[in-house]
Amino acid sequence: MKKNLVIAIDGYSSCGKSTLAKALAKKLGFIYVDSGAMYRAVTLYFLRNHIDVSNDTQVEDALQHIELNFHSRDYESHITLNGEEVSEEIRLMPVSENVSEVSAHRIVRHEMVKQQQRMGRSKNIVMDGRDIGTTVFPHAPVKFFMTADPKIRAERRFKELESKGNNETTLEEVFENLAHRDYADTTRKESPLVRADDAIILDNTDLTQEEQLTFALYHVEPFLVQ
Ligand code: DC
Repeated sequence: MKKNLVIAIDGYSSCGKSTLAKALAKKLGFIYVDSGAMYRAVTLYFLRNHIDVSNDTQVEDALQHIELNFHSRDYESHITLNGEEVSEEIRLMPVSENVSEVSAHRIVRHEMVKQQQRMGRSKNIVMDGRDIGTTVFPHAPVKFFMTADPKIRAERRFKELESKGNNETTLEEVFENLAHRDYADTTRKESPLVRADDAIILDNTDLTQEEQLTFALYHVEPFLVQ
């Protein structure tokens, strides 16, 4: 197998990036890295420590005190913030509401990209995010750019929230939130979400999870031989 193969998956929010990334990692025995979880964990640290995002010195200093680590269990990605497991807490509203601002910060992005690149140096990984194929691993041999009909994405996300017992959010609110995040991700100054020229588009509006995996494996397999 080719050494240090990196598979980059980018795309809009709630497009099924992590589902595909986990399935691929499991099938290939690769490590799955959820780059969004890193921005979320930094956001949690900033919230807990009242870091003012508009103050570069504070941001820079805070980043020196943050150590992030991934632990993979059953191909589910678990992240620790200074040794504390925070995988659940980073999905809650306070973090979700602030992560766009934190992840748009130049100094934060610079540090996260550095750490992400380090992870891909010696291991076979599948990493998902917004700038993996453009900024983090511009030379990754296989890149996917995932998209789907916004209404379908909102319905999927709504069902997922419902299945987790969240009955307070309406489908319209989910749709609005996705539209807002798409806008923020694609228009920010630092590494906006954009398809890399050599990324394979995967529109999964009408595809099952199995079909997406088959599609992705078809494109990855040539890089697995030798
Ligand atoms: O994938 P997610 O929704 O958990 O990501 C959380 C936030 O982090 C989201 O606002 C986009 C941002 N993000 C980013 O800017 N760059 C990445 N590589 C991954 C996520």
